[in-house]
Amino acid sequence: MMSKSLKKLNVLSNFDIVYYINNNAMSNISDLRQEYKKHILSEASVLTDPLTQFDVWFHEALRAGVPEPNAFTLATVGANGRPSARVLLLKGIDAGGFVFYTNYNSNKAQELESVPYASMVFLWLELERQIRINGPVAKISREESEQYFQSRPRESQIGAWVSPQSHKIPSRDLIEQTHVSMIEKFKTNETIPLPEYWGGYRLIPEEIEFWQGRPNRLHDRLLFTCENENWRLDRLAP
Ligand SMILES: Cc1cc2nc3c(=O)[nH]c(=O)nc-3n(C[C@H](O)[C@H](O)[C@H](O)COP(=O)(O)O)c2cc1C
Repeated sequence: MMSKSLKKLNVLSNFDIVYYINNNAMSNISDLRQEYKKHILSEASVLTDPLTQFDVWFHEALRAGVPEPNAFTLATVGANGRPSARVLLLKGIDAGGFVFYTNYNSNKAQELESVPYASMVFLWLELERQIRINGPVAKISREESEQYFQSRPRESQIGAWVSPQSHKIPSRDLIEQTHVSMIEKFKTNETIPLPEYWGGYRLIPEEIEFWQGRPNRLHDRLLFTCENENWRLDRLAP
């Protein structure tokens, strides 16, 4: 329905678009609501180690068929104090934290350089769950990035050489042409080298909040806070 209506927008005047938004899209948005009633989360059922609890929920998300369950929103803050957020893919969890990969010249990387703290949000609507993780972020070792980079498909490796991520470019053509020239450049390479500007970060969790949707907007929220290397558990009001 929505996509059919949106297609119509292409042939509407500005006046029509304002009319359309006021009378259709916006009123429909405020009508959207869902009761959450699939699961509960209690102090008795939650595990004492939040990383293990994350793992349990992650595997439940996998089994529930959540598309891209490792996709999360990463919020960072720039030197100017302004936040920005984008979706990334989680590529590892270990005792040290949560690992993701990106371009070290990107906007997010510049922000992490200025303010090395971030917030991650996982949303698994099929299970009516959200997990928020906050903490300091540090680059992982070059060896670790190298190991992951070499595990990626060749096409993705070449992709890392093509894109000056977050930089303004004159047109899509530049990307297409660079892609062709990188395929040519590496055509005799058995392995594609790791670009020096590409690698991973690890977010070391200081806070992990598990959110379970409940009826009447009275959701369960359990917050783990790291204190002297121990996890303290508190319930938060929804
Ligand atoms: C589902 C999904 C997964 C993504 N995964 C990554 C990723 O793992 N690494 C990455 O650098 N960008 C990823 N992106 C693109 C980012 O959202 C973003 O556009 C890019 O990293 C540039 O962000 P920045 O300009 O804020 O640095 C993904 C986007 C989507 C929608």
